[in-house]
Amino acid sequence: MKIAVVGTGYVGLVSGACFAEMGVDVTCVDIDRKKIEGLNQGVIPIYEPGLTRIVARNSDAGRLHFTTDLPSILNQMSIVFIAVGTPSDEKGNADLSYVMKVAETIADHITQPLLIVTKSTVPVGTSHRVRDLVRRRLDERGLHELNFDVASNPEFLKEGAAINDFMSPDRVVVGVESEQAKELMTKLYRPFLLNNFRVIFMDILSSEMTKYASNAMLATRISFMNDVANLCELVGADVNMVRRGMGSDSRIGRSFLYPGCGYGGSCFPKDIRALISVAEGVGYEMKLLKAVEEVNNLQKNILFKKLTNHFSGELKGLTVAVWGLSFKPETDDVRDAPSLTLIRSLLDAGVNVRTYDPAAINETRKVLGDDVYYANDIYDAALDADALILPTEWKEFRLPNWGVLKKIMRRHVVIDGRNIYNGEELTSLGFTYYGIGQK
Ligand SMILES: NC(=O)c1ccc[n+]([C@@H]2O[C@H](COP(=O)([O-])OP(=O)(O)OC[C@H]3O[C@@H](n4cnc5c(N)ncnc54)[C@H](O)[C@@H]3O)[C@@H](O)[C@H]2O)c1
Repeated sequence: MKIAVVGTGYVGLVSGACFAEMGVDVTCVDIDRKKIEGLNQGVIPIYEPGLTRIVARNSDAGRLHFTTDLPSILNQMSIVFIAVGTPSDEKGNADLSYVMKVAETIADHITQPLLIVTKSTVPVGTSHRVRDLVRRRLDERGLHELNFDVASNPEFLKEGAAINDFMSPDRVVVGVESEQAKELMTKLYRPFLLNNFRVIFMDILSSEMTKYASNAMLATRISFMNDVANLCELVGADVNMVRRGMGSDSRIGRSFLYPGCGYGGSCFPKDIRALISVAEGVGYEMKLLKAVEEVNNLQKNILFKKLTNHFSGELKGLTVAVWGLSFKPETDDVRDAPSLTLIRSLLDAGVNVRTYDPAAINETRKVLGDDVYYANDIYDAALDADALILPTEWKEFRLPNWGVLKKIMRRHVVIDGRNIYNGEELTSLGFTYYGIGQK
């Protein structure tokens, strides 16, 4: 089977590489020439554990190709996935211009039957908009008899664990409206789920909605726990114990109950906004999700607030180390990252910022330029610092040498945005420790 994946970002590149790993002949397409030239020379544009190896292996085996020229390969394909970005526009709607642009290119060049699958996260009804646009253009081209199908196949992978999520998914959701599309998607996903075929087929609108509802639920759990954590601080409870007590209830479960400094990344913030906006479009108010977003926006300021409280508002001229820039560990993605909200507030307050991240410095530099110092390691970042703040819990931050930090920091304040340190231990070593939701 030959397929194309249009959009070679986190989702498109991982999907393309993983389909190729199962023996499918895959062409990844992007409009970014530099990205495609790099990929043709084995340069992987993103940090994702395991991706370099799997791309190299499948490129060498001749199953994974990269091009900027969708029209030239289109008519060799059985399936074309659309995996381009759907960022928020200024009103919070999903910007569908990239998706529709791909649909136009397909519509202007297909000459044989094709299954067009939306993998990007898109508002309910988008796959039908793609279908209607392609049909209209084909009719304009006089190709009234040319049949094609659309399907929706939202992606649930997590950056940082994307390969594993794609190769062994909890489930695959597919929205179809023809038996032919169902058969093709079954054939494509069968190798991933040989022993337990967990593809859930449904109608296209429900499939599109499932993706938003899933992200909305996860974001809700995070904001809920952040709200609980803030209350814990006020009443003297410890959210770490509360989380353990709650999470052991099988009806609740342990995942996504970790309080912190807010969710970020390329998905939750924009998807929550898009769902609120989809609802508004049909005259419905998503009150709960509005609160989820509001809690998150407040939580993204929590680390700055703790610093301000500690120094009684006298921040000008301080030096602060910020450990972790990506929105979560094991990715270089800084889109909507809590670290950026924090750093912008620090800079506005006249603080000198020294940052370190194992993977995301290049991406951060594109956003913040040289307004902050990019350190070579955690100790370089902490040199002469008045405080150390941790927005992202990379593994290498878990067991630092506190003795060295004690010597090289000017003052000894630690603000732990992910509750990875033991407050009692740090206090006994002479640090002033602030976590989230702890006494
Ligand atoms: N990143 C994630 O973890 C994740 C997880 C699940 C779903 N999603 C969804 O998947 C979609 C893609 O997300 P991403 O993070 O991979 O985006 P991305 O920004 O990393 O990549 C998008 C790519 O599409 C390319 N592109 C734009 N227009 C194009 C066109 N006309 N033709 C060819 N290529 C084009 C861009 O150059 C870019 O390389 C989004 O809808 C997102 O919400 C993302």
